[in-house]
Amino acid sequence: MAKASIQIIGVASGKGGVGKTTVSINLAVKLASLGKKVMIFDADLGLANAQLALGIRAPFNFSHVMSGEKTLSEVIIDGPSGVKLVPGASGIQHMASLTGTETAGIIQAFSEIEDELDYLIVDVAAGLSDAVMAFMSACQYRIVVLKNEPYSIADAYGTIKVMMQHNLDRILLVPNGVESQKEGERLYTSINSVIQNFLGGQVKYLYSISADDMVVRSIKASQPLVTYAPTSAASRDFTQLAKQVMALDSEVPMSGKIQFFVERVASQMANRD
Ligand SMILES: Nc1ncnc2c1ncn2[C@@H]1O[C@H](COP(=O)(O)OP(=O)(O)OP(=O)(O)O)[C@@H](O)[C@H]1O
Ligand SMILES: [Mg+2]
Repeated sequence: MAKASIQIIGVASGKGGVGKTTVSINLAVKLASLGKKVMIFDADLGLANAQLALGIRAPFNFSHVMSGEKTLSEVIIDGPSGVKLVPGASGIQHMASLTGTETAGIIQAFSEIEDELDYLIVDVAAGLSDAVMAFMSACQYRIVVLKNEPYSIADAYGTIKVMMQHNLDRILLVPNGVESQKEGERLYTSINSVIQNFLGGQVKYLYSISADDMVVRSIKASQPLVTYAPTSAASRDFTQLAKQVMALDSEVPMSGKIQFFVERVASQMANRD
């Protein structure tokens, strides 16, 4: 049987600091521990958040690929449970200025590792920059992380609105820092009804992540929560979240084409006003 196609999942929020990196790395490590081949692309410009959260140090990053000093395989590093990481760099911002040959080289590099992957998780920066939208457009699924707080809800709604204006669908909500699954489900129901009424679209609920002090402790310990405290409440939530992700329909357009991801990011960046 042919190998299932790769799933490319972007993780965005709107407001910063609501848990994108926490969700990205713990989802990735959990999927990996469930036997999936997973890579994280740290697309948060400037801040090398993901490697800190994974407890690994990368000597090189994506900017070295962009500058031609390193190949993609040379900058990829291994993290917990066999998760791979493409370390972030501010160089990603300059994807628009890549020449055709450079873009082709990067696309080629991504397509060479495609066969080895089930999931590519793209941890983007906060806000709604061109780069963020370019990455989110290029993904097959878009996770929006939000907290049950007015500013986070407003920013998540704003992010979803812009995504829908770009005709992006398959938007998945992950409430973070909740006291109960019920709280997360209620938050989803209310935001989804506003979206239906004002934007005429729908978002899907994935799963909520509990507020858990172990998250903070795992970050201090430079380890993903799911390996640092596997029996904690939030870890159990990440197990459920990973199962929800694995249950997503994999038959979506562009599946199996990691090179389309890079191609679309590059062309979006080049075509912006
Ligand atoms: N479920 C949780 N329970 C408790 N604390 C949490 C939880 N999720 C995140 N945090 C706290 O919130 C902080 C910010 O999380 P994280 O770095 O994942 O957010 P982010 O959205 O990636 O931020 P940025 O926009 O800066 O990239 C963490 O350092 C941690 O202290
Ligand atoms: Mg982050």
